[in-house]
Amino acid sequence: MTTSERGKTTPGEPTSSAAPDIDWQALAVAARSAASRAYAPYSQFRVGAAGLTATGRIVTGCNVENVSYGLTLCAECGLVSALHDGGSGERLVAVTTVSGSGEPCPPCGRCRQLLLEHGGPGCLIDCDGTIRTVGELLPLGFTTDRLAEG
Ligand code: THU
Repeated sequence: MTTSERGKTTPGEPTSSAAPDIDWQALAVAARSAASRAYAPYSQFRVGAAGLTATGRIVTGCNVENVSYGLTLCAECGLVSALHDGGSGERLVAVTTVSGSGEPCPPCGRCRQLLLEHGGPGCLIDCDGTIRTVGELLPLGFTTDRLAEG
């Protein structure tokens, strides 16, 4: 399914049957708005992320860079912080990440791991004009199951 084919859709098998309808347009608008608030003086590359929670709430985040480049916080970090700051222990159902120009911006490897933790492998990602799952973006991701094997 491509972004242009979608409009407002109901998620399929990858997510819970109790998941809300996904208004991808609303997520894109929220992500672009978040990107406009990014702090990216070093790369000049603004990123905004918007996520839909299982209860229908939209949470957002933007990238926040640091003069010590390695301390940069990706937009998805802010998104996950906002998710938990909401206080309800919700999970992410769908996420859209865009650059400052509004184009889809696939999450980096580290952020795929973050999204796996907080949305699970079935969480839907508007990545590059195609809807993919976190499980597709991060096959064999590291999960708590592994900890039990230690
Ligand atoms: N960035 C994100 O915010 N999310 C990603 O998934 C990829 C990269 C940011 C980090 C940095 O501020 C800028 O993009 C350039 O790498």
